[in-house]
Amino acid sequence: MNEIRPQVHPIFDPATWTFTYVVHDGPGSDCAIIDPVLDYDPKSGRTSTRSADKVVAYVREHRLNVQWILETHAHADHLSAAPWLRQQLGGRIAIGSHITTVQKVFKGVFNLEPEFRLDGSQFDRLFEDGEVFEIGRLQARVMYVPGHTPACVAYQVGDAVFVGDTLFMPDVGTARCDFPGGDAKALYASTRKILALPPQTRLFMCHDYPPNDRPVACETTVAEQRARNIHVHDGITEAEFVRMRTARDATLEMPVLILPAVQVNIRAGQMPPKEANGTAYLKIPINAL
Ligand SMILES: [Fe+2]
Repeated sequence: MNEIRPQVHPIFDPATWTFTYVVHDGPGSDCAIIDPVLDYDPKSGRTSTRSADKVVAYVREHRLNVQWILETHAHADHLSAAPWLRQQLGGRIAIGSHITTVQKVFKGVFNLEPEFRLDGSQFDRLFEDGEVFEIGRLQARVMYVPGHTPACVAYQVGDAVFVGDTLFMPDVGTARCDFPGGDAKALYASTRKILALPPQTRLFMCHDYPPNDRPVACETTVAEQRARNIHVHDGITEAEFVRMRTARDATLEMPVLILPAVQVNIRAGQMPPKEANGTAYLKIPINAL
């Protein structure tokens, strides 16, 4: 990777504990937006752009040119604001190429319309493992890091890595692996892949769920994770991790927004096609998940 140290601006969404990032090379440069959130109220079925408005304000304030809107995976805890941001600011929406596996699984779960395409063409670009692309002067590299979902990717930009749902802050551990297509063994391998990067590499989390009264945090390093991550610090074997992860996942409830979020996010953040009355609907499969 080139040696440029990108500027990273986190925007925290307290409703879903998600971090959206704007990564750039200084005022007036090109930028990428990573994992933007569309606010969704499950009680009313209403969306709003409170969170994404903050992204727009930051991009305009710093006169950034949006080249990319990057998703680390099809999130289960929030809806993506990618299409709305593309409309406001431009840029191309991208995700890992294995999104097609996730589309296939959930087309079945939600019995989606026959026209729903399983080739990922709802996104502007699908990335393969190891692919390199540019964000202006910054060079970015895609790391395929499955486990939480079969399609997860992390984005390495200079000395910064946006890890998606793989590692959490050291005192929180790792992401769950019990969604359809999740795999604790694969997540262990993915965390080792990230932790093999140079020790000073900056790691940016997709979420934080701080225990006790620790303030919310989004940034750590490979060295800190290897020393202190409660699930995958150096010395934890794959077998130990898988046993812990599987037992812990069995105790977790489904995220509040998983049903709306997945339906929208496998469409690159678009709502389902409107019905004859001009309204779009989301489905709730009964006893299916
Ligand atoms: Fe996730």
